[in-house]
Amino acid sequence: MTSSILLTGGTGTLGRHVVPLLRGAGHDLRILSRQARPAAEGITYATGDLLADEGIEAAVDGAELVLHLAGSNKGDDEATRNLARAAARAGVRHLVTISVIGADQVPIGYFRAKLGAERAVEECGVPWTVLRAAQFHDLTLTAVRAMAKLPVLPAPGGLRLQPVDARDVAARLVELTGGEPAGRVADLAGPRVYPLAELARGYLRARGKRRPTLPVRVPGKAGRAYRAGDNLNLDADQGTRTWEEFLAERVN
Ligand SMILES: NC(=O)c1ccc[n+]([C@@H]2O[C@H](COP(=O)([O-])OP(=O)(O)OC[C@H]3O[C@@H](n4cnc5c(N)ncnc54)[C@H](OP(=O)(O)O)[C@@H]3O)[C@@H](O)[C@H]2O)c1
Repeated sequence: MTSSILLTGGTGTLGRHVVPLLRGAGHDLRILSRQARPAAEGITYATGDLLADEGIEAAVDGAELVLHLAGSNKGDDEATRNLARAAARAGVRHLVTISVIGADQVPIGYFRAKLGAERAVEECGVPWTVLRAAQFHDLTLTAVRAMAKLPVLPAPGGLRLQPVDARDVAARLVELTGGEPAGRVADLAGPRVYPLAELARGYLRARGKRRPTLPVRVPGKAGRAYRAGDNLNLDADQGTRTWEEFLAERVN
């Protein structure tokens, strides 16, 4: 059976992969965006801003399921509280959201806000599912592109990532959205753990470039957390697409 779904973040990197999968499963979608957008087949847009708490009530109205993917580098806790409150009032049947591996461990504002967002979902009274994922390949590519612009490649000692393909995360989220509320499910990470400098060298190789490497140390509590691997989960479920495959598609 298909249900009416409110999707937040449907215009973002992850959301753009989710939309065709949900449409393929026969769902009609309402997508919340801060920008007005024209409707397409099976898709309408609601204009609103989760952080400013604008337009949320109308967006949630009539939705049985909410898949909450909207996020930014600041304020995801508050934005999610606003959405979760409206979802509870509207009698939503299942609220599914994405978080990040290490949300409760890495002492950085973004991770703390994601933990706050998880709490908002858990405590709002709507049956819920939360999936924590590792960094997407896309974000990793943005980071290594910036590093590769420098004449010397910084190699932060002990900083490792388990980058995962946003398409794998999208597929898992669609599966979860079609299922019963499941609470915190197994984390989803990429197939391998890489030192950040190795990811950057892979990018440089794909571009046919070389750089000398400069070891650097990430200072403070955040540095300690990364060196301890608090952003990793070696027992996580694994996506199928590797960083090398993603690079081959995106870099030439
Ligand atoms: N990127 C990663 O590596 C990673 C890893 C783990 C988890 N996550 C989480 O996955 C989710 C999606 O990430 P992404 O990389 O796909 O994000 P993205 O490409 O930056 O897209 C952000 C999305 O959020 C929406 N949005 C942002 N602020 C909003 C607001 N105040 N009100 C309503 N909508 C808002 C945007 O919609 P409009 O611009 O149309 O308004 C857009 O669709 C986020 O929650 C992120 O924290 C990301």
